[in-house]
Amino acid sequence: MHTTTSYAIKIDSSHAEYLRKVLLQNNILRTDLRIKKDSGFVFLPITSKEDIKDTLSNDQSFVIVKNDFEIQETRVNDYKELISLPNNLQDLLPTSFDLIGSIILIKLDDELIPSQSIIGKALLQTHSHVESVYRIKAVSGELRTRSTFHIAGIKQNLTIHKEYGLFFEVNIDKTYFNPRLATERMYIASQVKNDENILDMFTGVAPFPIMISRYAKPKSIIAVDKNRDAIVLAEKNIKRNKIETDIRLFHDDAKNIPDIIKLNKTNPDRIIMNLPFHAHDFFLQALQCVKQNAVIHLYTIGSDDIISERIENLYDIAKSHSFSISIQKKREIKTYAPHEFYMGIDITAKKN
Ligand SMILES: C[S@@+](CC[C@H](N)C(=O)[O-])C[C@H]1O[C@@H](n2cnc3c(N)ncnc32)[C@H](O)[C@@H]1O
Repeated sequence: MHTTTSYAIKIDSSHAEYLRKVLLQNNILRTDLRIKKDSGFVFLPITSKEDIKDTLSNDQSFVIVKNDFEIQETRVNDYKELISLPNNLQDLLPTSFDLIGSIILIKLDDELIPSQSIIGKALLQTHSHVESVYRIKAVSGELRTRSTFHIAGIKQNLTIHKEYGLFFEVNIDKTYFNPRLATERMYIASQVKNDENILDMFTGVAPFPIMISRYAKPKSIIAVDKNRDAIVLAEKNIKRNKIETDIRLFHDDAKNIPDIIKLNKTNPDRIIMNLPFHAHDFFLQALQCVKQNAVIHLYTIGSDDIISERIENLYDIAKSHSFSISIQKKREIKTYAPHEFYMGIDITAKKN
């Protein structure tokens, strides 16, 4: 057992729980040391005498002493255990958040914003490899970026995310990246056959092309995005991962993809369309590119009804432009909101 000496508050045990919460709330309680009990008193280890004077100057119910404390062997895993808010707020603390590289991105209800700094510090304390915590709003706008607000740790918007042995540089303010799609990217890579030509219509920082290149043997990949910042990072990521596949990047609008394909004379065997709220709007452009037969992985978000409607619409688009399509698989990737799903739809398409 390891011990160390620390300043502490000595208080009658009947008042200790209230004070423990106040100290915790103000980040004054030392959570690395074990609280001690002796002869009806509780000893709460504190960060410094000065912090106490600032926070509890009028409270006469305790004395400050020096004492030996056992160093806590077990780390707290759940950041919530380091936070003590009134019950109605404590219950709002999120159970999940995203970790991109060394940055935690967390959505907070408005009521929690005044406590964001305490929440950020608790997340830093419980995740030793994390350097920064940002509060985020939902992804929005055409380029699927989000507003971020720094709440703890160092300020940085660039980070390198590791996934299946690959490294993706991401700008959390200016580019889209979703660490929760790692398994999906691996699924797509597992579907790719040798020497396929692939088209990624909304590539972002290029996680699909890079994953496919590392774990399959495609012949070429054309990857397009309308966001210049994403294309700049995509190029860096391809170099960073020493990818040798012929990947051609285009900073362009997906509506121009049929022209890009014509100029490059490589019609795709497989198309990835990860723009969930609007991929269906570009389905005709995808069909105009395919060889005789192709597989299209289209991602969409919505309720069961909305998704069924969109699928009907895809059949209509195909029929009116002399294509036959068939849905091979509908895969629920994650729940997006109550009764709304992030779905991957695997479609085969051929020209009639
Ligand atoms: C949901 S993100 C997916 C990015 C990437 N495939 C991934 O999985 O990380 C959608 C991407 O589509 C891009 N985008 C949106 N509208 C576009 C358009 N009309 N043409 C090309 N790219 C577009 C956005 O900039 C964004 O990077």
